[in-house]
Amino acid sequence: MKAGPIGIFDSGVGGLTVWKEVTALLPWEDTVYLADSAHAPYGEKPPEAILQRSLVCTRKLMDFGAKMVIVACNTATTNAIAELRRQFPIPFIGIEPAIKPAALQSASGTIGVLATRGTLASELFARTSRSYGAQIRILEQEGEDLVARIEAGTLEQPELGEKLRAMLQPMVDQGMDHLVLGCTHYPFLTPILQTVLPPQVRIVDCGLPVARQALAVLEREDLLGPREETGEHRFWTNADPVLLDRMRARLGGPPGTVAALDF
Ligand code: DGL
Repeated sequence: MKAGPIGIFDSGVGGLTVWKEVTALLPWEDTVYLADSAHAPYGEKPPEAILQRSLVCTRKLMDFGAKMVIVACNTATTNAIAELRRQFPIPFIGIEPAIKPAALQSASGTIGVLATRGTLASELFARTSRSYGAQIRILEQEGEDLVARIEAGTLEQPELGEKLRAMLQPMVDQGMDHLVLGCTHYPFLTPILQTVLPPQVRIVDCGLPVARQALAVLEREDLLGPREETGEHRFWTNADPVLLDRMRARLGGPPGTVAALDF
């Protein structure tokens, strides 16, 4: 079991931003990544459909021998992780917007959350916001159309910066000093966001905390792989492997093989 890879899935290329942090923190571990891009975005699907896709992805990762699964998608975590934990005998790591660290570090007392409609409307998000809402003001903004743009790999157009500025300036005007990226696709936008936001606004994503959580759980479950080796990385997509490879290369990180798979 220790020799198995860490399985990671997302509705598409977004979970690569989590994969990158996992490989940085656990460079000896093998990984298998599934991009369910043929069914993105999950946020516009009914909960039952998101659960079905999460079950399909998890079964596939189990077929690849995964010893742990990281559900690298806020929408799938909210809608499916409880059922996945019930059905499969391996540890699962989920994702949720990093409201806690932003709330604890905010000096202005105002933070912003950029997320999909599905995440902003979820019970998990409501619960987390409620637990910090008394001490801190949390401003919300739906990242309309952003997942589709990142899936298409079209991040170079200058009007994307203008679109992001229009979305975020109202939160800046209200004193936001931390912007939480509540979707694993959005760290692809960080270089553009840094040009659009004033320097006092810190951008917070959940990649590193999730990698730390994976390390802690592997240690606890005695599932850590042998540290003297360098991990191998395989990526599968049910859409265009060239695009997945391009998005992976954009992030950097260790090399791996990318191929198409029907799932
Ligand atoms: N990466 C997914 C997330 O973090 C994208 C959401 C979607 O597919 O709607 O929620």
